[in-house]
Amino acid sequence: MCGIVGYIGESQAAPILLDGLSKLEYRGYDSAGIAVFDGGQINMSKAKGRLKVLSELTHDGATLPGTLGIGHTRWATHGAPSDINSHPHFNESKSIAVVHNGIIENYIKIKKMLEAKGYKFVSDTDTEVVVHLLDYYYKGNALEAITKVMHRVEGSYALGILFAEEPDKLYAVRKDSPLIVGKSENGNVIASDVPAVLKYTRDVYFIDNEEIAIISKEDLKFYNVYEEEIQKESVKIEWDVEAAEKGGYEHFMLKEMHEQPKAVADTLNPRLKDGKIVIDELNMTEEEINAVKKIMIVACGSAYHTGVTAKYVLEGLARIPVEVDVASEFRYRNPILEEGTLVIIISQSGETADSLAALRMAKEMGSKVLAIVNVVGSSIAREADSVLYTWAGPEIAVATTKAYSAQLIAHYLLALKFAEVRGTVSEDELKDYIEDLKRIPEQIELLLGNREKIQKFANRYVAAKDVFFIGRGIDYAISLEGSLKLKEISYIHSEAYAAGELKHGTISLIEDGTLVVALVTQEELYKKTISNIVEVKTRGAFVLAVTNAGNTEIEKASDYSIYIPKTNKYFTNSLAVIPLQLFSYYISIGRGCDVDKPRNLAKSVTVE
Ligand code: AGP
Repeated sequence: MCGIVGYIGESQAAPILLDGLSKLEYRGYDSAGIAVFDGGQINMSKAKGRLKVLSELTHDGATLPGTLGIGHTRWATHGAPSDINSHPHFNESKSIAVVHNGIIENYIKIKKMLEAKGYKFVSDTDTEVVVHLLDYYYKGNALEAITKVMHRVEGSYALGILFAEEPDKLYAVRKDSPLIVGKSENGNVIASDVPAVLKYTRDVYFIDNEEIAIISKEDLKFYNVYEEEIQKESVKIEWDVEAAEKGGYEHFMLKEMHEQPKAVADTLNPRLKDGKIVIDELNMTEEEINAVKKIMIVACGSAYHTGVTAKYVLEGLARIPVEVDVASEFRYRNPILEEGTLVIIISQSGETADSLAALRMAKEMGSKVLAIVNVVGSSIAREADSVLYTWAGPEIAVATTKAYSAQLIAHYLLALKFAEVRGTVSEDELKDYIEDLKRIPEQIELLLGNREKIQKFANRYVAAKDVFFIGRGIDYAISLEGSLKLKEISYIHSEAYAAGELKHGTISLIEDGTLVVALVTQEELYKKTISNIVEVKTRGAFVLAVTNAGNTEIEKASDYSIYIPKTNKYFTNSLAVIPLQLFSYYISIGRGCDVDKPRNLAKSVTVE
């Protein structure tokens, strides 16, 4: 997720662009750049690092005179954060400049085609194909060139484009990534999101998919992908800037929960090609995949919890023995890593000290290390032998939600790829699994629509002292995450327990009214977990069950039930975790806690 801006009017563009980008840094902040037309040519300045690096470089925009420009603040997906990979990107003659938010899924194919035609690429980004493709199609008609590019590229994009030969126009294009146009007395603006324009106008046009905006100082024109002019109505924005940064949601955590369908889709779709799972970045031949004798998963916190789920999924689908450990234990217990062990380090930030230390130790011991990371170019990403990125975009709330969900998808893809290569699933089974994966984003959307029901239930437990989460198999892994979410944002004591283990001591803590959240999504374990529900109920517990749609039997045992849509037993964590996130979020609010910045916690634990 990145932030783009653009301006055309009577004022100097650069300061306006920098100001707009400062309101979009929550969308990405590893590098930034601006391009401004000075009446004769397009000049550009861009740099790795936070926006202030660019502001200093351009003396707050003074070095780039002109009244037409575009800008970008980056969250890297393709190409590590660097000066050359930052946006805007130029064509070779510097007559076209582009900024982009989104992912061009077929950029490798297009890049090969353009290189064969003599185009030279200077960056590792997917975006650069857009500016060279525009150059390839541009014969003096910008709209025509743009629509040809739109018919050629696959993926998501919000584009801001400058053509040196059309100095009185700013072009904006949208598909799947958000884009707005603002009309004001002081000129017209484009941006990825409302916060960047509120200083100038509250009159905003939301660009819809496959629409193009052609913006001059005087007017705005909108077209569809067939170059037909269309009419659009403006919308009056009532939000203040802070609310706008959260997309109108009260907290970043709620906003990021609602970004989970997109985070899942963005992590999944580029790795599904013609019904197959393609994970080029794995850097492992089929021979190397077949040679894997064991997988050692190491991580911390919620990332560790996805590793516990991954153990069940990898062992279930690919029949590879998996061990999972928390990094702070792994790095000091003198672990044994036999020959043929693949070590997987999972980390949203890519900077967690214990996980980074575990990675370095595994490499010293001669193991191949695969990292599953959300921040491109982070330490863990750079030092691993290969990286499977989650494309969840920047996660601002300390409590992870969308990165957690994207990590689960990465695990499913890896398990299915290994299973396919090792022949432990048939072609037909693989097709069914992929169909189930493709349904997850819409199923998460459906569960998020349950907000009010869960908020009502959560309000009854705002004063709870102890909450227990129980489950068997993958349900145990979900329990771990449900319990941590509750603890870290509501400060209520909670424990996650393997349901079959309760009777070995912990059940003595169950009293009248103790809330027990039972995860019951593994059909072959239904009966076992229901017997554990009965055990705690006879001791006075109030049981909330999270189970599969249709399993109404559960209502005979539990006091309250939340149903998740049907999916494959290996993927239920992706759905069951949603009501648990919402449950913790509403309890935290009810208790007046700081949801996005809970006490004692940091977003990335970069010290031991
Ligand atoms: C999860 O909500 C917490 N913020 C925390 O447990 C986190 O998952 C853990 O610190 C690991 O962080 P990482 O994924 O950036 O390595």
